[in-house]
Amino acid sequence: MKTRTLGKTGFEVSEIGLGCWQLGNDFGPVEDKEAMSILQTAVAEGIQFFDTADVYGGGLSEERIGQWRKTLTKPPIIATKVGRHSELYPSGYSKSAVKKSLQASAQRLGVESIDLAQLHCVPREVLFAGDLLAWMEDLQKEGVIKHFGASVEMLDEAMFCCSHPELASLQILFNVFRQDATESLLPLAENNDVGIIVRLPLASGLLSGKMERDRIFSEHDHRSYNKDGDAFHVGETFNGIPFNTGVALVDELKEKLPKGQDILDVSLRWILDQPQVSSIIAGASRSSQVVRNAAASSLPPLDKDLHALLSEYYREKVKKHIRGGI
Ligand SMILES: NC(=O)c1ccc[n+]([C@@H]2O[C@H](COP(=O)([O-])OP(=O)(O)OC[C@H]3O[C@@H](n4cnc5c(N)ncnc54)[C@H](OP(=O)(O)O)[C@@H]3O)[C@@H](O)[C@H]2O)c1
Repeated sequence: MKTRTLGKTGFEVSEIGLGCWQLGNDFGPVEDKEAMSILQTAVAEGIQFFDTADVYGGGLSEERIGQWRKTLTKPPIIATKVGRHSELYPSGYSKSAVKKSLQASAQRLGVESIDLAQLHCVPREVLFAGDLLAWMEDLQKEGVIKHFGASVEMLDEAMFCCSHPELASLQILFNVFRQDATESLLPLAENNDVGIIVRLPLASGLLSGKMERDRIFSEHDHRSYNKDGDAFHVGETFNGIPFNTGVALVDELKEKLPKGQDILDVSLRWILDQPQVSSIIAGASRSSQVVRNAAASSLPPLDKDLHALLSEYYREKVKKHIRGGI
């Protein structure tokens, strides 16, 4: 597993990290044993960067990571998020409430100070008011957190955060079916030493290539209850693309790929081919997926023709189907 520097944190993070939303049972139930197996497999594959949030499973994801962390001799790098807990979201933000929320996360994770705390898709107007970023800076000075970053929905939010002098990292939705960050955001991030963390690399699993039309997801899975944005931002689940349209787009793209190239490998590799990306936090509902995703770090870069094909396919075929704005 290769590593890259995560912006101003200076942390060396694995190119493939692990997204831990599923450990909160928000994709359907994951038994404790399976959750531990996913985490242990990740470490065995060289993954040492983990992304979670206080609200994943109401704290369950952080608790599981905290329990598991105690069993390790070498501590992994854990990023969590703040700002979507009902005590804060959508309008209860204050410095003391943010601090309390972060301290609760630290306790669940079993750490003194959080490695990286990211604002978690807070409302646009709250973000742009700027207080939250200032409070994060204060809390970093107080030692509650070691570094802070932001996870955002839209490109203008990303550009805004990226210009903050102390912001260490930015978590964005970025994949073969959501390419716009390449033009303006990635160069700015590089210039400002902001590490890019990529979420939804497989567009909620669409880009694994295994999805079939009309698949039924568990009622507890956001891919069921948020497929049209009924619970949170419509641009998040399946990348904002209506499910059956997404399946059709993936199937058409598969036909265009050079012989022997697999859509999942191509999707992960395309992201790693962007030098400004520090880590991809791929989700995985079972250990075998962790192993498969980790292997992307060892694949060779895609060639120029394939990059051109993917860029054209996105612009001509995919972009118009994304709901919720970019
Ligand atoms: N607002 C935010 O800040 C925010 C929002 C969303 C996500 N995130 C973070 O980003 C992480 C990743 O997001 P995500 O899990 O939603 O999206 P993702 O990584 O694009 O998709 C994960 C899903 O893809 C499928 N998959 C993964 N690896 C596979 C493989 N090798 N073969 C076949 N299928 C595979 C699995 O679906 P099946 O369950 O169908 O097997 C898995 O649940 C989250 O865990 C979380 O840490 C943050």
